Amino acid sequence: MHCLARRLQPFAFSFLAASALAAGLENQNILFLEPSSLYKLPVDFNGNSSQSFLQTDGLFKGTARQARFQMVKPFIAYDDEFANLFAADATLELIYNSSDGNPVSDEMGIWVWDHNQVWMSSAGVGNVSYTYILDLNKHTVKPLDVSSNGISIVNPNGGGYFNGKVYIAGTGNMSIPPAIYEVDPVTHEAQVVVDSYFGLRFNGPNDLTWAKRQDKSWLFFTDDPLSYYFNNGKYPTIPDAVWRWDPAEKTVLPVIDRTDILVPNGIRVNKDSTKLYITDTPSQLIPGSGFQEVSSMELYYGSDSSSIYVFDLSEDGFPHNKRLLGIAQRGIPDGLHLDDAGRIWTGEQDGIVVRSPTGKVLGMINALAIQGEQVVDSNKMPLQNFALAGYKIIIFAFTKIYQVQLSHTIVKNMT
Ligand SMILES: *[C@@H]1O[C@H](CO)[C@@H](O)[C@H](O)[C@H]1NC(C)=O
Ligand SMILES: *[C@@H]1O[C@H](CO)[C@@H](O)[C@H](O)[C@H]1NC(C)=O
Ligand SMILES: *[C@@H]1O[C@H](CO)[C@@H](O)[C@H](O)[C@H]1NC(C)=O
Ligand SMILES: *[C@@H]1O[C@H](CO)[C@@H](O)[C@H](O)[C@H]1NC(C)=O
Repeated sequence: MHCLARRLQPFAFSFLAASALAAGLENQNILFLEPSSLYKLPVDFNGNSSQSFLQTDGLFKGTARQARFQMVKPFIAYDDEFANLFAADATLELIYNSSDGNPVSDEMGIWVWDHNQVWMSSAGVGNVSYTYILDLNKHTVKPLDVSSNGISIVNPNGGGYFNGKVYIAGTGNMSIPPAIYEVDPVTHEAQVVVDSYFGLRFNGPNDLTWAKRQDKSWLFFTDDPLSYYFNNGKYPTIPDAVWRWDPAEKTVLPVIDRTDILVPNGIRVNKDSTKLYITDTPSQLIPGSGFQEVSSMELYYGSDSSSIYVFDLSEDGFPHNKRLLGIAQRGIPDGLHLDDAGRIWTGEQDGIVVRSPTGKVLGMINALAIQGEQVVDSNKMPLQNFALAGYKIIIFAFTKIYQVQLSHTIVKNMT
């Protein structure tokens, strides 16, 4: 949040200027943009909601070729706080490339720190259902096999690691109800911990997070209709809501109503569980939201809002004081993770966006850098989720996995 003086004038960040800056403490892979470029551009600017912000006409000076060179830089910094997160030579390092072309990494993004693993899932969309485990030492990927005790986790989506157990939100299918699963990362034994409310199915738990205050802990999960349309082919039987499971008290309570958040998606708490963050889901009709296929059922849902909200969490674990924290430029702010400094990381159509606890956009890991030369096809979602793993970011790009080295640990081991 300092050193703004050494930034260049707005829109003067040509090829040369960026190199000059990079000769300082910063890395060649970081492009610095004036934070004011997010709200003030030359009068002939022309942005397009079907394209990345970086493809906005008027954002870069110089030739189209120079602009193109800038817009595929891996890291876009609007604030030095973002630039300082990265190791001096940090880049997007490809650590896994699926040899058969099948996806292995889409959703979840949880760091199972004491086993040096990152768990990844398929999300409950389409005909592919998997949970894969990435070994962070060897960069190998193995499927989670929970068949030992006959439990099959169908269409796994979000998850969390808490007290030595992995919790997975499974969106189910027509025959297997959506559920929250608990999986032992050593034995891979799985059990269902929540699957119904007064005998009715959930619609499709999307993501979950554990909050802990003193001797109490609660699992919060979002339940939304997305997977119903994709997998189950029926309309929801209960209203979408955010739910709270208290295993000690043996209760599942609705804690946020669908009139507060229509299609709750990503969910996380901050380090001391005093704040709860939840993202909403725009309708598929929004240009650039990443979805092009529209059918009548899919029109049914959608808040038309790609918002990120923050709530205070009371001592007794109830969310209140809803505040709008941000709106994604494009797409669903889907993958949602918090670092220990309270920064909010979201996987959006343009990339992984990092916001300060008060909502300032600090920077972005650039989706166009992952798409490479295909910058014109920016509607194709290059990434959706990621994991914050100590001093590394692990980025899920479906058939590929990238790693980014940070300058310091941003998420410590949780006990
Ligand atoms: C916006 O971008 C899309 C995709 O690149 C393109 O098809 C469309 O024509 C653009 N719209 C305008 C108004 O430039
Ligand atoms: C990734 O693997 C595919 C084959 O599955 C291959 O065509 C492609 O060139 C590889 N990409 C990289 C960057 O290694
Ligand atoms: C899933 O399978 C159905 C039926 O086989 C097919 O119509 C649909 O296109 C498939 N969806 C995807 C995302 O592959
Ligand atoms: C649901 O998933 C299970 C486990 O993969 C599978 O056996 C079953 O056929 C699926 N049901 C439907 C209706 O697709």
